[in-house]
Amino acid sequence: MTLGLFISFEGIDGAGKSTHVEALAQAFKQAKRRVTLTREPGGTPLAEKLRNMVLNDAMDPLTEALLIFAARRDHLKNVIEPALERGDVVLCDRFTDATFAYQGYGRQFNLEVLSQLERWVQQIESSDQLHQPDMTLWFALDPSIAAQRLVGARVPDRFESQPIDFFKQVHRGYQNRMNESPQRFAQINADQTKEQVWDDVASTLIQKQWLSAHDFSNTGHA
Ligand code: TMP
Repeated sequence: MTLGLFISFEGIDGAGKSTHVEALAQAFKQAKRRVTLTREPGGTPLAEKLRNMVLNDAMDPLTEALLIFAARRDHLKNVIEPALERGDVVLCDRFTDATFAYQGYGRQFNLEVLSQLERWVQQIESSDQLHQPDMTLWFALDPSIAAQRLVGARVPDRFESQPIDFFKQVHRGYQNRMNESPQRFAQINADQTKEQVWDDVASTLIQKQWLSAHDFSNTGHA
């Protein structure tokens, strides 16, 4: 039986992670692994509706946190858990670290409440363990560089339109989450060309022995 593998991708808006999620899916497919490519908030019909609200409708921070965790619960139960049980590689564009970074640090919402919601939503049945990614790739980028990259890119949502100080806090949030779980995180320097960032992603996966150099031929952005 092939064991499932759960990898999340994190970073502030403008860090350029999403293109690498797609490319990594190709590399795993080349290695003959089944891939579930998904995102948060979202990934199920219900969670996509909640995403739309969270990104566009005004709400207080507790409502925002509750909707994000409601979306996560639906996503975990209906997509992530079944995929891992089948032995898929689950590539998830953002997961709970984003909630601690954006809601906890960006919005300064109560971290204890977030931890409690995390336990309720992610607890593995009949165990005191939580569902967490096997690895989180954190695309780390100076918020002022990320802001320059986003200028004119698209109509900003409720997060993208935040001031730079918000993203400095979000960046600190990711740093703290990494400090709390250093074995889970791999920090990628996102202040490089797309090809260099991709090389770092590939090296990280090869080092983990989850993929070989051969699986990366004909993939990437070159
Ligand atoms: P995306 O643009 O990477 O798909 O992410 C959507 C936005 O939602 C992004 O600005 C970060 C934000 N977000 C949160 O605020 N909390 C969360 O828990 C997640 C998953 C995303």
